[in-house]
Amino acid sequence: MPDRRRLVVIVTGASSGLGNACATQLAKRGYAVYGTSRDPASRERKADEFFELIRLESSDDDSVSTAVGYVLAKEGRLDALVCCAGMGIAGPIEETPVVEAATQMDVNFMGVARVVRAALPSLRESGGRLVVVGSLAGSIAVPYQAYYAASKAALAAFVEALRLELVGLGAQATLVEPGDFRTGFTESRHTFGLADGSPYADNGRRAIAVMADSERHGADPVLFARLVTALFEKKRLAPRYRLGPRSQRAAMRLKDLLPRRIGEALLGAYFRIYAGKGA
Ligand SMILES: NC(=O)c1ccc[n+]([C@@H]2O[C@H](COP(=O)([O-])OP(=O)(O)OC[C@H]3O[C@@H](n4cnc5c(N)ncnc54)[C@H](OP(=O)(O)O)[C@@H]3O)[C@@H](O)[C@H]2O)c1
Repeated sequence: MPDRRRLVVIVTGASSGLGNACATQLAKRGYAVYGTSRDPASRERKADEFFELIRLESSDDDSVSTAVGYVLAKEGRLDALVCCAGMGIAGPIEETPVVEAATQMDVNFMGVARVVRAALPSLRESGGRLVVVGSLAGSIAVPYQAYYAASKAALAAFVEALRLELVGLGAQATLVEPGDFRTGFTESRHTFGLADGSPYADNGRRAIAVMADSERHGADPVLFARLVTALFEKKRLAPRYRLGPRSQRAAMRLKDLLPRRIGEALLGAYFRIYAGKGA
């Protein structure tokens, strides 16, 4: 994608956080950017957001095809798709209602699948780019965020397969796995279970507090925007890119090197998970 003049990009989840930083930067660079939100009318726009915000609900087939159809009708082409829309739930596996777990998977995993399916014909035609936002949580254990981590692990497998399916067809896909970033994600997260008396209460509350604190002190979303912009200039996309706080990227490398049992013990200590009541 070397010539960015009027290249058309859809960025899902562009009302906030990583998607907003990315859509803003791409628009400033001259791309024709369409960002999405579940409720664009209610979103206050910043002065430098030079992109159109359109409605898209990841869990709704019609909403996804309407959004992609709108861009294609208006522009007649699509050159790139950045899938940022997503949300997170927390809580013990045992105490998280199945319906909430299913919604997590539907929004984060099937939501991406819906948009990718709708965009692929145009992206194949334009030789375009797909950037899917996974998470380091998809590659490393995150206790009390099992369903979120599973949705991101599913995306990693999805993109791996998609890359092979696209060989020789022009379009290219990649997975970006961010570590912790300062976004609206932390405040939007719903926590289930962990009531007083729950056998998970002490460890779960501590672990979720560690995560939230790490996110609030996480990296600046501008770093993500810079990475995506750089990816659009690249001739060939690697299967996966990781970014975020250095300590988390180092932990990922360590995980690959250490025996599993030691890695697990270190993670438990990081999340302040202790054996014994209230330890
Ligand atoms: N922040 C982190 O530390 C971190 C780390 C790793 C990965 N990620 C991933 O990065 C992506 C962006 O998250 P963020 O950190 O930027 O969080 P954010 O600030 O909360 O932004 C989430 C975006 O997703 C949209 N969204 C949420 N639920 C949706 C749904 N059901 N349908 C359509 N859009 C929906 C929101 O738009 P509306 O509310 O306007 O609809 C918003 O624009 C997510 O996939 C997240 O899992 C974040």
